[in-house]
Amino acid sequence: MKTSSGKKLWIGSSWKMNKTSSEVERFCEQILPVLNDLPDQIQSFLIPPFPYAQKVAQELESVTTRIGVQNICWAESGPFTGEVSCAMAKDIGASIVEIGHSERRYWFGETDDTVNKKVRATLDSGLSPLVCVGDTADEKQWGVSVESIVRQVKIALYGIEKVELGRVLVAYEPVWAIGENGIPATPHEAEEGLKAIYDALVSVYGELDANKVTLLYGGSVHQDNAEELIQQPTIDGLFIGRAAWQPEGYAEILSIASRYTS
Ligand code: PGA
Repeated sequence: MKTSSGKKLWIGSSWKMNKTSSEVERFCEQILPVLNDLPDQIQSFLIPPFPYAQKVAQELESVTTRIGVQNICWAESGPFTGEVSCAMAKDIGASIVEIGHSERRYWFGETDDTVNKKVRATLDSGLSPLVCVGDTADEKQWGVSVESIVRQVKIALYGIEKVELGRVLVAYEPVWAIGENGIPATPHEAEEGLKAIYDALVSVYGELDANKVTLLYGGSVHQDNAEELIQQPTIDGLFIGRAAWQPEGYAEILSIASRYTS
């Protein structure tokens, strides 16, 4: 059984820049009974756009689902127009901060260095960073996927203490696997990527033991590949986009995951 070691299986979704207020309400209303019935070993999480994070946190207050935000600023406060601080995220009920998604790296100039600063700020605020790393299609073709994701993860966690790692989530999200035109990683490719990340962390920190980082796979996860992905030894959970944006889709993947809990 996946969770026999006592570790939870994380199943969650970022909505990216999608949904309006009424769609958020409908989603919460329909998903609440499903979340209420989940086995304890499943850790559900949802990462709505900023304007709705508080609403989702309030609507789902009665369940253990964790709420995240899709970005933060590393600074505590000050002249950073358009930005949101960790304290603000915490204030509205978020406990996870997604950092370094490839869409933020591609469209908004997020770099390994800013990712690292955001991870530091997130941990300092008592929140959990969910760091996304992934190789591009070119890097895959050139045979440097491992080098690329190891570099990203090492810089993201630079200066982070071993005792803090238990609060960190890292998602392997191959850029070539994400979105409408993405080709989902095979379970083997997902496992290889996460194993490379795990080995890199061991090379930096030594054996991780109780401080093990939670390792997720994301990129075209859907109802038909979720089961095989969950069974991979290094995968602690799934980070889902499109397939979980409707409550029915999220519910279906949660139900598949529930079969892998003891
Ligand atoms: P997708 O998105 O599941 O729609 O491919 C995944 C992600 O970007 O995290």
